[in-house]
Amino acid sequence: MNKVFQSNDFKNRIVYQIYPASFMDSNNDGWGDIRGIISKLDYLKDLGIGIIWLSPIYESPMDDMGYDISDYKKINHRFGTMEDFDDLIKEANKRDIRIVMDLVINHTSTEHEWFKKAIEPEKNKYRDYYIIEKGKGKNNKKVPNNWSSAFSGTCRKEIPSLKGMYYMHLFCDTQADLNYKNENVINEIEEIIKFWLDKGVYGFRCDVINQIYKTTLKNDYSKLLFNKGQKYYCNQKGMFDVLKKIRNDVLNHYDTFLVGETSFLTPDIAREFLKTNTLDMFFEFDHIWCDKSKFIPILKTKFKAKKLAKPILNWQNQVDWIANYLENHDQLRSVSRYGDDKKYINESAKMLATFLLSLRGTPFIYQGEEIGIKNFEQFSSKESDDISAKMVFKTAKSILHLKDETIDKMINETLNRDHARSPMQWNANINGGFNQGSKTWLKVNPSYQQINVENQINDPNSILNFYKKLIKFRNDSEILKFGETETVKISNSIVSFKRIYNDKTYLIILNFSKKSKKYNKKCDANLLISNYDTFENGNLYPPYFGGIFEVK
Ligand code: NOJ
Repeated sequence: MNKVFQSNDFKNRIVYQIYPASFMDSNNDGWGDIRGIISKLDYLKDLGIGIIWLSPIYESPMDDMGYDISDYKKINHRFGTMEDFDDLIKEANKRDIRIVMDLVINHTSTEHEWFKKAIEPEKNKYRDYYIIEKGKGKNNKKVPNNWSSAFSGTCRKEIPSLKGMYYMHLFCDTQADLNYKNENVINEIEEIIKFWLDKGVYGFRCDVINQIYKTTLKNDYSKLLFNKGQKYYCNQKGMFDVLKKIRNDVLNHYDTFLVGETSFLTPDIAREFLKTNTLDMFFEFDHIWCDKSKFIPILKTKFKAKKLAKPILNWQNQVDWIANYLENHDQLRSVSRYGDDKKYINESAKMLATFLLSLRGTPFIYQGEEIGIKNFEQFSSKESDDISAKMVFKTAKSILHLKDETIDKMINETLNRDHARSPMQWNANINGGFNQGSKTWLKVNPSYQQINVENQINDPNSILNFYKKLIKFRNDSEILKFGETETVKISNSIVSFKRIYNDKTYLIILNFSKKSKKYNKKCDANLLISNYDTFENGNLYPPYFGGIFEVK
């Protein structure tokens, strides 16, 4: 067994996710960049975060905004150079901030050299880097199996240079799935991981990591409408073997950690990740269905706090450590989804912060969440840059026979990822201070006039300053970091739970409603921190109240 260097220091740190295209554009070309990130490190330090997770910054044609990598060892030219990246690591380290990269290894872009070689008419070793199979039926005209792409439609595409042969793409058709039955692929990935760790990267967020291993490629005859094939590619035993190998060969030689993006995660699989030391934590996806239909994901349903809090609190007791989040680049803005982005925007954004930062596990804050950025009021999938919104629009149109505007509205309310991807709102100047005024790659959310960092930084009651206070409170609190979680009440208005560590107990009380709510479980408790300045310790909790009490 190799020597293990892991210090678990990541458990003491709060993560901030940066979506590089939209964080800060230092050269006014419309795209965020690494120099822009460096210029905001003091802001992040002041916020109290300890780790930055960068969504992909590798070279990419950007069909899926960098989740389609064409060169794992090159920096995306839109974001800067390798020298900029080295400076970022250096500057971040100076401030005791660690950098985590996005590891997208289920698939590569079809622009990647490996894929280009794989589809050369003359067979070579790269053919077996991907999942390439002969089609079925007469002249191999039918796709090899009936699995679906996560972005809707089939996950197979015919290769023009290899007639009758199809590659697999669980996402869009320029994201070709790698073949993890091939040791050469694993070796290549290990080398890439080593390359970045040697540069001083602290860890990786592993994209769709529980889907990398396809046990068989058989047809899936289940009744699933979406994600057909899932039972053969999700949470497979082979995935553990691949990750164990990577851990032993590479990761164990560094003080590092892996957080997995793991939809369709079950508690058993999650515990297996921890037991086998294959992942250090993971994102669960159960709570994202609290305001949309699991069967027709573009169908919005009424938000229910119970459906948000129950899975989140349930997971707290299922596993020893988890990655907690309310937002990321794939989800709509939390204050619009789970709070009230109008009258109670301040209260509800702070209440959600209280929820996120008082859970056991690592909190992940997404850029802009700390100032309460809300969804766009209107956004048509036609002007959207989000490949999944575009693909789903096409599929929905062909099967639902609804008006374009109706489908558009549905997608806008449920899955248009651009809501979360618009440029960061730094001030009320042109383009929200994201750049000096040149056309931005995605339009700026008009809310920047009111919701921006500059407005909030000197306002002691701002969402931003509440985050700062809460982050400091958490960073200093062993109870919030390491205490056990015990659910006290989950309803569609009041959600309450305890955190218990040694002989100390904190009680967290959240009101998810626009109305004051009575909650009779009045205990002998001392309010430590809350989003209301004047709160009489009684049993009536004002709209969107969020507070942490110490139980005496
Ligand atoms: C999950 C990422 O978060 C998402 O943005 C991306 O589209 C898919 N994986 C495919 O890589």
